[in-house]
Amino acid sequence: MASKTYSYLADVYNDMMRFIDYRTWAKYIIVLSRLTGNKNKSALEIAGGSGTLAKLLYNRFSFYVLSDLSSEMLANSSPVVKNKISCSFYNLPFKKKFNFVFSTFDSVNYILTKKNFVLMLEEVANILEDDGVFTFDVSLERNSLKHLKNLNRQGEVNGIKYFQKSIYNPKTRIHTNRFDIILADGEKVQEIHKQRVYLFNDYFQMIDKSDFYVYGCYKTFSFDDADESAERAQFILKKRKPNAHI
Ligand SMILES: C[S@@+](CC[C@H](N)C(=O)[O-])C[C@H]1O[C@@H](n2cnc3c(N)ncnc32)[C@H](O)[C@@H]1O
Repeated sequence: MASKTYSYLADVYNDMMRFIDYRTWAKYIIVLSRLTGNKNKSALEIAGGSGTLAKLLYNRFSFYVLSDLSSEMLANSSPVVKNKISCSFYNLPFKKKFNFVFSTFDSVNYILTKKNFVLMLEEVANILEDDGVFTFDVSLERNSLKHLKNLNRQGEVNGIKYFQKSIYNPKTRIHTNRFDIILADGEKVQEIHKQRVYLFNDYFQMIDKSDFYVYGCYKTFSFDDADESAERAQFILKKRKPNAHI
């Protein structure tokens, strides 16, 4: 039977991501955070996983909170990141508002329905200061098609073996990753991850239904405008003024 996502996978996640240039990613996030005009204020990272970026970013803000649905992922984050909370981005349990909220590595593609996407946006809008910025990256179809082969891989870390099988269905636009994991004691477990590859324009429609507007939408790691041919797009959202729904 399939286990909860990012439970067993948490112990091999950092190994799977070992070639990812999180330092460059952190620099990009810092530049985006300055769009608030409020340098070094409070930041909330949602779906922050095992906190690799949090470790690089927590001391660049006066207050930093790392959050993720998976307590197993958070448990593997660095102890230098003090404020961590396990919560869903559909239900953010904060009384305090933040100047900057962000999510990385196509975590929002885990949202499988448009209704839930708008729900996530509303939840973030509730805990973001009126002049704050919310930014997230999304994986587009070109990314799914181009990297499918590389996502069929296997590895081993600390006696745990993992095998990833990746399938993209262009009809349903669901990208499925199946992880078969053999734990150090020989037990076999499985996680099935489903992500939805929305059309580029879907994002604009969903954002239109929320209290946000698109301040910028770039090819990830750049400031060049993205379009539907991009592999990944970085959305930068700001809050509309009250009653400014178009
Ligand atoms: C691909 S990982 C990215 C982790 C991290 N941002 C990074 O760049 O390494 C996706 C993360 O999204 C989290 N996630 C999925 N659904 C979530 C939800 N509803 N609320 C909060 N986090 C969620 C998972 O637990 C996982 O840690």
